[in-house]
Amino acid sequence: RAPIRIRHLAEWKAQGRRWPMLTAYDYSTAVAFDDAEIPVLLVGDSAGNVVHGESTTLPVTVDELVPLARGVVRGAPHSLIVVDLPFGSYEVSPEQALLTSIRIMKETGAHAVKLEGGAERAKAIRAIVDAGIPVMAHLGFTPQSVNALGGFRVQGRDEGAAAKLQSDASAVQAAGAFAVVLEMVPAGLAAELTKTLQIPTVGIGAGVECDAQVLVWQDMVGMTPGRQPRFVRRFAEVGEALRTAARDYAAAVESGEFPADEHSF
Ligand code: KIV
Ligand code: NA
Repeated sequence: RAPIRIRHLAEWKAQGRRWPMLTAYDYSTAVAFDDAEIPVLLVGDSAGNVVHGESTTLPVTVDELVPLARGVVRGAPHSLIVVDLPFGSYEVSPEQALLTSIRIMKETGAHAVKLEGGAERAKAIRAIVDAGIPVMAHLGFTPQSVNALGGFRVQGRDEGAAAKLQSDASAVQAAGAFAVVLEMVPAGLAAELTKTLQIPTVGIGAGVECDAQVLVWQDMVGMTPGRQPRFVRRFAEVGEALRTAARDYAAAVESGEFPADEHSF
């Protein structure tokens, strides 16, 4: 099986072939997703939520994401691995964005970086792309800007906001981004953007007409505690399976049923 590269995603857009992306934060999970032939894996700053238990992605640092990304790169040799630029690691200047991206590429072996923002990030995207590093953009609800956006809300609902989203999408494409995540965008607007843009759109809460879809893997398998966003579908109940396994293990240890002779030397 040949490894997935940026050019495959462009080919799939031309063919109208939809593709899945999942987040991954460690080696063992990456092995499973590589076996499942998930073409693109994102080491998301959602690690702040699902790995570190923070309520936003703002506290996540490059130092925290690098070791996670290393594990994913080793576990998924056939997948295209994208790593998020954490909040505070790229907004100061295009130079800062490039230095952070170079560090991530050098220290992780990943294939691309992702950053949030539109026209205001175009110069940073251009600087990174010019250094030979592919960039995925992220528009709509951008979690690093949760404080400015006034909470967890659908973006681009009114005419002005839709027009802004369209010009941001054009700006990131013109700056050289190879794909763009659309998070919590009305399905009709996402469909329009998908039709207009040459680069693939990756939807999360952005309807079925996007070229690709992405979910946080813990959301996708029922591992996330608390209220789940409307855009999530649970494809398994791994959280429940894990609780049951842990309880069964505890009971077997307490009763002396485990370890049995076959587990002993
Ligand atoms: O960090 C993340 O998981 C993301 C995806 C949801 C797009 O940015
Ligand atoms: Na992210």
